Amino acid sequence: MKRNYYNFHHTIFQEAPVCKKVVIWNFLDFGHVNFVHKRSYKYVKVLAKYGNATFAEFGVNHGLNRFFPFTLRHVMWHQFVPPDTVMHISRTPFGTYSKVIVKIREFKRDNKVFTRIEHSFYLHLPFFLLPFKKLVKWYMEHWSALLWEEDLAMCLRRQHALDKGFKDAPLETLPFVSEGLAD
Ligand SMILES: [Fe+2]
Repeated sequence: MKRNYYNFHHTIFQEAPVCKKVVIWNFLDFGHVNFVHKRSYKYVKVLAKYGNATFAEFGVNHGLNRFFPFTLRHVMWHQFVPPDTVMHISRTPFGTYSKVIVKIREFKRDNKVFTRIEHSFYLHLPFFLLPFKKLVKWYMEHWSALLWEEDLAMCLRRQHALDKGFKDAPLETLPFVSEGLAD
């Protein structure tokens, strides 16, 4: 892959009044995608998982799905790099690759714990999308806001349960599939 392979870069920030481990759990819990993010994903299948690395297939309901139902298949390598980074690389339906680096930082404001999430998106847009970079940026903002609305609700509820003294559940529930490498 060429050094300057990615021809589009965009950064999106999110913030929540929850601790870092709740946000990391949300990134590693692939199970919830099949239920909580039904608007955006038709399915996720975890094909293999070794340590902090996961290989998965996503059926993505793109923005026009409301009018023309179709699902595009993305294959993704996803890895948590302790203590505060999640990285993933996907093969897109255009045959190109996209890379996302997520930095997760906990901080205090007015003596309250918050976590800030910085998503750096690197895409290789096919030539026919290059004139529409502004539209792609708008679409990514819209897509991220939709997902974040659902993830934030989960994170807040989880933080609330932890604050009430509930024991933490296992880190993730994986929808393993028979065609994958994992048992
Ligand atoms: Fe999520």
